[in-house]
Amino acid sequence: MASSRIESLLARMTVEEKVGQLGVFADMVRPFAPEVNPEANVSNAEQVLQQVREGRVGSLFNGVGAELGRQIQRVAVEESRLGIPVILAADVIHGMRTVFPIPLGEAASFEPELAERTARATAVEATAAGIHWTYAPAVDIARDQRWGRGAEGAGEDVVLGCAFAAARVRGFQGGDLRAADALLATPKHFAAYGAVAAGMEYNTVDIAPQTLRDVHLPPFQAAFAAGALSVMTSFNDINGVPASANRELLTEILRGEWNFPGVVISDYTADMELIAHGYASDARDATRKAFLAGMDMSMQSGFFADHLPALVEDGEVPVEALDAAVRRVLELKEAIGLFDDPYRSLDPAREADASYLPAHDALARDAARRSIVLLKNEGAVLPLRKAGQRIALVGPFARDRENIEGCWTLFGDKSRYVTLEAGLRAALADEALLAVEPGCGLEEPLDGGIDAAVAAARAADVVVLALGEPQRYSGEAQSRTEIVLPAAQQALAEAVAATDTPLVVLLRNGRALALHGAVRDAQAIAVTWFLGTQTGHGVADVLFGDYSPSARLPVSFPLASGQQPLFYNHPRTGRPELPEMKEFKARWREIPDAPLYPFGHGLGYTTFEYGVPSPSTGRLGWDETLTVTTTVTNTGAVAGEEVVQLYVHDRVASRVRPVRELKAFRKIALQPGESAQVAFTLDRHALAFTNPRGEYGAEPGLFDLWVCADALAGEAVQFELLGSGDSGLGIRD
Ligand code: GLC
Repeated sequence: MASSRIESLLARMTVEEKVGQLGVFADMVRPFAPEVNPEANVSNAEQVLQQVREGRVGSLFNGVGAELGRQIQRVAVEESRLGIPVILAADVIHGMRTVFPIPLGEAASFEPELAERTARATAVEATAAGIHWTYAPAVDIARDQRWGRGAEGAGEDVVLGCAFAAARVRGFQGGDLRAADALLATPKHFAAYGAVAAGMEYNTVDIAPQTLRDVHLPPFQAAFAAGALSVMTSFNDINGVPASANRELLTEILRGEWNFPGVVISDYTADMELIAHGYASDARDATRKAFLAGMDMSMQSGFFADHLPALVEDGEVPVEALDAAVRRVLELKEAIGLFDDPYRSLDPAREADASYLPAHDALARDAARRSIVLLKNEGAVLPLRKAGQRIALVGPFARDRENIEGCWTLFGDKSRYVTLEAGLRAALADEALLAVEPGCGLEEPLDGGIDAAVAAARAADVVVLALGEPQRYSGEAQSRTEIVLPAAQQALAEAVAATDTPLVVLLRNGRALALHGAVRDAQAIAVTWFLGTQTGHGVADVLFGDYSPSARLPVSFPLASGQQPLFYNHPRTGRPELPEMKEFKARWREIPDAPLYPFGHGLGYTTFEYGVPSPSTGRLGWDETLTVTTTVTNTGAVAGEEVVQLYVHDRVASRVRPVRELKAFRKIALQPGESAQVAFTLDRHALAFTNPRGEYGAEPGLFDLWVCADALAGEAVQFELLGSGDSGLGIRD
């Protein structure tokens, strides 16, 4: 129920003023973020301020700065007829001045609480800089690594995705939305944006309703359950109906089934794009269809301002629907206290104080090292020694500062970025032990680069080869046909590997990569994503063993690009490949349909041993809970952290089920020789799925269960889920 303040405001608003609250425009008044969107409906500072003055702006986005933010707010509050404050938004995805690892990298930590901490730190910095609302977290499940925006999410798994979606919402928003450091969150992109066909950006999404429900929608439900009060629609269509005008999605599911009370904001010009989709005939038609489907706020197109008043006038849009949308926007502003304190988060003194917070550098370093996945470490070539070992740091990322932050970093303080070279030098006892050679450019050979790199490799005891994707290869509109390293880098790797000096590859990447040749065959490979401000120190902490790597793959690393989409929780097919039989089986001519490194994989500097999982019962009653306990032991010589993973497989069901599904995970720390009893609980709700008739629930029958170290590891134990009343008849809930 809206407050009396909002109801009385609504009663006084003209149709134009109501529509004004539904408009979101680029903040041309404050220093504008780097170009992250195509040009559309371009205006300037004076025009924006005049629109604010006329009550035609509900929100501005991607500007920054408390002082200028106050000026905008003063115009809204003191110069417009009704004095409704403006809400200021930005794409603050994984850090503000302090930049944290890209979300996919943080997901590799399998520590949602870490993501909550970095989101909280981000909120402190963003709200100090005059931002109330972030267009994050991206919660898209990405199963095709050719798509560039997997970098912004939590990978291919829905359970991991839900955990990180909720954690980031909690972190951004904090415990009190009215607090000056509370940052409104916006789970995006609603929905199934990560399922674009062939990983091609903005492409069509042709998806079974069950897959939509069971894979792509749950992270939004998790975000809403964590308190998110806004959601951003996606560019793609879903089975032919654009998400941004999809009434089943935006009204029947979001409002009808989930009772979501918050605001639906479009992605950038997504209403305008209904015309390009061929779903609307013109701007008025697009406006009507988007609004009536359930879009509350229109970003940047100006379509709502141009056409909604007439649509209401002509009775094509009921005024009650307009009032309902405006009420939700006003309630959002009231929820963060803007009516009581319009200048909240617009304090220049606080902005100055928060411009550099040492604690955030320490957090960024911890997040960086906890996001690094060690894929292999043959002959324990890692950790390196800080003394008595000559190291050649080779590769285009050795000194690079331009590709530290990762995609969707708009406001990072680049002066604080720690390069790989700086991180290694700071860790070494004697800097003379480190030689640095770029060897090649990011994408192109370097005259004499390989020769110099080979010479450095020959003179060293170990080569650290810093390779990867340029930052611009991931993020929006960055789909790739081949998810491989640039050819110049591969050539460098082959030449350096030919020296036989032990080779440690550091990958910098915004997606899973297909690794080939000398890169794949290196003695050690670490996936470092884009780690943000503290890149060099975080990597050095792992390289020199000051931190034993503990991250695990949130996305499957393929054998070849052609396998995409490749994800661990796939159905079995009627001809699964068997060890003893490859003919007429589900595999490629050239390679098995298997990953090079599976989801959940990662090594540390110690080893762990798993006992046989011990379920509390082999027959789980319909309304009962099963507890499975497993002994995990650190069998190595140093302390380490292990991500214990619980997977199940529903052997027979009314819809074929994945060969494995992650149902829970827990990171534990163990001293050498120490054991822990790790217990997970399961009930039928954890085994539920959407069946061919669209009903959600579990089905009785036999299940396999693993407690293990990755999506291919472990020995299964079995249990049976009994039907209700132990009849075994399988009455669905
Ligand atoms: C972009 C992105 C979206 C972002 C918005 C505003 O196109 O799809 O994630 O929040 O526009 O910049």
